Amino acid sequence: MNYDANNRTFDCEPTLTDSQVLQFCREGYLLLKGVVPAEINQRARDYLEGKVPANPSYIPKGMTSADLERIRKSHEPSTILLEDWFIEHVLLNPQVAGAMRSLLGSNVGLPVLVSHHKVECPQPAQRWHHDADHIFGPELNSVEVFYFPQDTPVELGPTELVPGTHIEPSRRKEEEPGIFADGPAGTIGIHHQSILHRRGLSTANGTRHMLKYNYWRTVAPTRDWIIEPDFDPQIAYYGGHNQARYVAHMFYWLCGQGEEFRVIGGQAWPWSSPNQIGRSYGFGSTRGYRPNWRKNNEDGYAA
Ligand SMILES: [Fe+2]
Repeated sequence: MNYDANNRTFDCEPTLTDSQVLQFCREGYLLLKGVVPAEINQRARDYLEGKVPANPSYIPKGMTSADLERIRKSHEPSTILLEDWFIEHVLLNPQVAGAMRSLLGSNVGLPVLVSHHKVECPQPAQRWHHDADHIFGPELNSVEVFYFPQDTPVELGPTELVPGTHIEPSRRKEEEPGIFADGPAGTIGIHHQSILHRRGLSTANGTRHMLKYNYWRTVAPTRDWIIEPDFDPQIAYYGGHNQARYVAHMFYWLCGQGEEFRVIGGQAWPWSSPNQIGRSYGFGSTRGYRPNWRKNNEDGYAA
């Protein structure tokens, strides 16, 4: 782990493989259950509940101790990002950092803002929503996480996500369920900021803390995660109709080939079926179309 405290960036070995990076492109999330040690989760809860004094590693330029005190007491207690124990064990947690390094390239930028979602359970579910300011597109310039510092079983209303909904506007009936980001204390959900989600229904009694923050890309994308020797992009699974072309475009953007990406439509690559007797046509085509992420063209392809 190479942590640059001056620039608030880090570098480390990537931990995700081609298949896992493609899975993130397809599903829009990864769940790391119970990866933060128990004593750190306790400290995070105590910090958020004002039970321990602040001990910032430094006071950011242009700010005062009074500013930090105000921020700590707000719904965005970003001062936790200045605590050494939080940096070392939560932000730079080996599994989280390895995933971020895989998805965002070298010299990953650390978060500057934390949103604290504190709920006294039980509570009804939120409505399904895409968060404000989301963008649908092949680019992945930041990745968002949810950190749960207490045991968060389904009964305590963890975040609920709908896989694959990060590529276009999605509507969902409130009675339809999603995938729960439940887990023991120290669970971290990694997801695409555009994914459809909500705070799930909670039926148990207790306080649910959740911290939400973003890691940032500082370098151009390139395929420098763990290369699988037998990964074959022509036959990899990119998803179903109206999905595969976007997922493949995102994967190719991450490989640094987003500009050249073209598809020829219909049954051609990246579409495939387990029942076909040969490889899909159209792989590696230099002519054709780009997926139309803006949805302003009836057939869904841009020029
Ligand atoms: Fe939200």
